[in-house]
Amino acid sequence: MTGKIVLGADHAGFPLKQICQEHLRLLGLQTEDLGTDSAEVSCDYPWFAAKVSERVLAINGRGLLICGSGLGMSMVANRFSGIRAALCGNEFSARVSRQHNDANVLCMGARVIGRDLALSVLDTFLQTEFDGGRHQKRLALFEERTRNQ
Ligand code: RB5
Repeated sequence: MTGKIVLGADHAGFPLKQICQEHLRLLGLQTEDLGTDSAEVSCDYPWFAAKVSERVLAINGRGLLICGSGLGMSMVANRFSGIRAALCGNEFSARVSRQHNDANVLCMGARVIGRDLALSVLDTFLQTEFDGGRHQKRLALFEERTRNQ
């Protein structure tokens, strides 16, 4: 994975995306923001989930997707082969999504999670490595068993 974190949100997720982006900037991490750019203009989360998923695959980076619940973003992102999107509302989920599932996209619900918890979940996600070992075999199975015929 590269160090770059690709960001996307709909109108509901926009304010939290901006907070996360500033947090990542202060940490010296490289980000790429694929929108949206307003909380006032209603927009459709699948566009942003798709754009971020495609970009994460292209650069072998990591993604952050935020909508109101986090659900729509995670559902769309997980339709892309090679994307393992984890909807996390606590640090434990963020940690094991990396250790066990090698998640490459973090999804959060801006109407679910507060600012401080969101930043802590984000930090946990970015700081945790994949454990490999028995989990590697499961990831291979995961791709193999979900490939469309
Ligand atoms: C927008 O109102 C809301 O539906 C969206 O942000 C997201 O929660 C969908 O899953």
